[in-house]
Amino acid sequence: MPTPLIAGNWKMNGLLGESIERVGALAARVAAEPPHCDIAVCPPATLLRPVADALNNSAIALGGQDCHAAQAGAHTGDVSAEMLADAGCRYVIVGHSERRSDHGESDALVRSKAAAAHSAGLVAVVCLGESEAQRDAGEALAVVERQLAGSLPASVSAADTVIAYEPVWAIGTGRTASLDEIAEVHAHLRRLLCGRLGEEGRDLRLLYGGSVKPANAAGILAADEVNGALVGGASLAVDDFWAICRSCP
Ligand code: 13P
Repeated sequence: MPTPLIAGNWKMNGLLGESIERVGALAARVAAEPPHCDIAVCPPATLLRPVADALNNSAIALGGQDCHAAQAGAHTGDVSAEMLADAGCRYVIVGHSERRSDHGESDALVRSKAAAAHSAGLVAVVCLGESEAQRDAGEALAVVERQLAGSLPASVSAADTVIAYEPVWAIGTGRTASLDEIAEVHAHLRRLLCGRLGEEGRDLRLLYGGSVKPANAAGILAADEVNGALVGGASLAVDDFWAICRSCP
């Protein structure tokens, strides 16, 4: 069983003072009582360097929320994977549903971003998940299968990639997928990963994301083939995020 990963996706939230206070408080708890999981925080790009400095000597890793597929160049407003690594990141989220919908990101673009992450030595956290309409139409498994096939680069390995299953209808809505729904999709993803990577596919971490809270974390994190969580809203409150980290079996 891979070590679970609890990653906090802060999205477009956080100013300097409150953010440094938040990671400082989290780092103190991790140091005092090491949990049974790896922990990462993914603040907005403006906060990466100061948060990296605040996490110096902490077991908490840093992640970016997106990267450009190119290493450098004329891409106003974008950040490359190499820049994220240079700022102290170990992870980068790619293909989040908010990027897919707000910026029209395709599986092919997500795949090239994940490849760029690998080239820069980062672990790519590749997100996928069906919409509510797709689930209602009975297409959830087919959708995630297509996204997985399209979004993973040739360089994928258990060490350099994490998959986050985030059903779009559960993100920021307070509606969590049921344990049966999560188990069904995760089992399907696991089969596909083992088909592609052989035994190594068992070691690639599969996270669930979508309204993970302290109240539902223990059940989700104990479900079959769930190796952690990608946490949005609840990662902005230290008490809640820490409670989720502590829920890892
Ligand atoms: P919430 O936890 O706020 O539903 O967000 C989930 C998410 O999108 C994490 O990437």
